[in-house]
Amino acid sequence: MKNENYIIEVENLTYFYPDKTPAIKNVSFNVRKGESIGLIGPNGAGKSTLFLLLMGFLKPQSGTIRIFNQELNKKSKKEIRKRIGMVFQDPNDQLFSPSLWEDVAFGPFNLGYNKEEIAKRVNKALNITDLERYTDKAPHHLSFGEKKRAALATILSMDPEILLLDEPFSNLDPDSYIHLREIILKYKKANLTLIIATHDVDVLPDLVDSCILMNNGQIIRKGELHDILTNHTLLKTHKMRMPVLGQLFFNLKIHNIINTEMFPVTLTEAEKFIESLLKSKDNTRKMSNC
Ligand SMILES: Nc1ncnc2c1ncn2[C@@H]1O[C@H](COP(=O)(O)OP(=O)(O)OP(=O)(O)O)[C@@H](O)[C@H]1O
Ligand SMILES: [Mg+2]
Repeated sequence: MKNENYIIEVENLTYFYPDKTPAIKNVSFNVRKGESIGLIGPNGAGKSTLFLLLMGFLKPQSGTIRIFNQELNKKSKKEIRKRIGMVFQDPNDQLFSPSLWEDVAFGPFNLGYNKEEIAKRVNKALNITDLERYTDKAPHHLSFGEKKRAALATILSMDPEILLLDEPFSNLDPDSYIHLREIILKYKKANLTLIIATHDVDVLPDLVDSCILMNNGQIIRKGELHDILTNHTLLKTHKMRMPVLGQLFFNLKIHNIINTEMFPVTLTEAEKFIESLLKSKDNTRKMSNC
């Protein structure tokens, strides 16, 4: 059924790999335009497979995918892929040209842009990802972290409306990590629809508003970031954990040091929470001195 409110609609999706591994089992979910989602789950949960299905790189055995209100099939996938971009978990799957410039130009070239527009887009994407100095370098000679940024550049040059990022932060040094966060935040503010697949829950707070928890090829729950990332029992059951910050406050509660049902997961939340704790302690001390 067509629903104008959703940019992605997935219904009863099932996918088995050729060796019969059941990677996606009857999965259904919807994504609104401008929504930013963390797709979390342990190794082998099915996150990358789900992305490959959304891109039409794999064909499901059953179920439907609608993107931009169009059913994804053999006929429509070329048009849909002009507006949705996926950055692969392994950048070696994404980089194949003799030079970085050619790799980043490949997408805009296929979209039919003229030379000037292609050059403009390539330069912009290389500038955003801070790779301008490697324009003529062979991508396979870049370091792994640089390849991750290069893979992102090949997608940004196409200006997608939906961005699927598969473990974008793995192997990045602290500077590149912060830089990538800034890039993603900028796109989030520009109302791009964003899904970040990861098992590293520490990267998600601030970047996404909601989470989909997957395990064993199934969607266990979709909900607000906070509701999912502070649910200790749910996460533990599915081989995941809270972000380190939330875990710290959870442990303090378990050890009866603080009494709270609120577990901050961002630095700002933690600062506010500690400030309120210190203030209430200060007030208690003042009262007891009266
Ligand atoms: N090419 C393949 N052939 C057969 N089975 C596969 C193939 N690729 C993945 N699988 C299996 O499909 C399941 C889901 O794998 P997938 O790569 O989607 O998980 P993931 O959630 O992305 O894991 P990770 O966190 O390790 O990246 C796993 O059981 C995996 O072994
Ligand atoms: Mg994966």
